[in-house]
Amino acid sequence: MTEVIVVDPLRPDPAAIVRAAACLRRGGLVAFPTETVYGLGAHALDRAAVARVFEAKGRPGSDPLIVHVAALEDATPLVTRMPDAARALAARFWPGPLTLVLARAAIVPAEVTAGLDTVAIRVPAHPVARALLDAARLPVAAPSANLFSRPSPTRAAHVIEDLEGRIDMVLDAGPTPVGVESTVLDLTQDPPVVLRPGAVPLEALRAVVPSVRLRSSHAPAGGAMPSPGLLERHYAPWTPMTLYDGDPAQSRAALLQAVTDALAAGRRVGLLTTSEQAHRFRHLPVVIAELGSERDAAQIAARLYAALRELDAAQLDMIVAQSPEADEGLWRAIRDRLRRAATRVVGSRQ
Ligand code: TXA
Ligand code: MG
Repeated sequence: MTEVIVVDPLRPDPAAIVRAAACLRRGGLVAFPTETVYGLGAHALDRAAVARVFEAKGRPGSDPLIVHVAALEDATPLVTRMPDAARALAARFWPGPLTLVLARAAIVPAEVTAGLDTVAIRVPAHPVARALLDAARLPVAAPSANLFSRPSPTRAAHVIEDLEGRIDMVLDAGPTPVGVESTVLDLTQDPPVVLRPGAVPLEALRAVVPSVRLRSSHAPAGGAMPSPGLLERHYAPWTPMTLYDGDPAQSRAALLQAVTDALAAGRRVGLLTTSEQAHRFRHLPVVIAELGSERDAAQIAARLYAALRELDAAQLDMIVAQSPEADEGLWRAIRDRLRRAATRVVGSRQ
């Protein structure tokens, strides 16, 4: 049985936090909210606890976990070197949705990092995550608390949907405010490389470290996977999803045509769209999941995974979505997650 404990997102009950921290110290699995998505926490220095995380998620052991700590000082024993860029970025963005990949110290079990000699570390900002880390006084390894390759959970109900009976406890503090995962930045390379676009935009990183670059979208032929979370299909609903990208007018027309054809063929269609575009489809028998205004990236990010799960639960034959036009700031992460959720992308703007 998985115990669900409801806590206030800003001022969680200390007794609940103490119990969750004790569970982590004993090697248990506790799902908790971060500002991005819910994480599935385990004692990062306890090999058996870490193994349970992979088992509960059905996650391949080749995909490394992020280690969460309460403050920069707690990160230093976990790495062999803390570069100046890491200190500058931590000073600006921690606590917050930035994950730094650094050289791993021997105390971090190889199971956490999938055998890599690097370790990903972040200091989360959510008051519940902070309270838990303060109480546990441990580094906490935590991937997103979903089954492998499903959309990340932004509500406790999503965690339960995927992991009920497989984990000890969920701290339910309501929806997570940001909705897309942290930005993963590799500082063991020079210049530093964004391995996963996320909640901290590239532009903001460059304001602190101007040389930061984006990883090229094509993995080196035959090379090792630089960040296994970059698996092409990820964060995905079970229902096949087609993403329309490229020129906005063209992709809108192509999407409308595809929906019309599918309905004519008797297929059940779900549509992931913005408030501005939804009206074009209201006359059609499609299930519409509205993300929010196309002028509000934060709102769309916050709704994205919940909307994917709603459509997935609606017994549909297919989902169609149109990629947002914008590509700066938080839009980069939204576009990235939509591409990974899609089984097929029509039109491209690389
Ligand atoms: O916002 C987040 O980052 C959430 C919350 C819970 O903190 N966590 C999260 O964890 O998204 P997960 O495991 O779902 O994604 C971690 C990503 C994966 O893409 C993984 O490959 C990458 O970080 N990663 C972890 N350790 C790494 C390492 N040593 N080198 C390169 N990439 C690493
Ligand atoms: Mg994940």
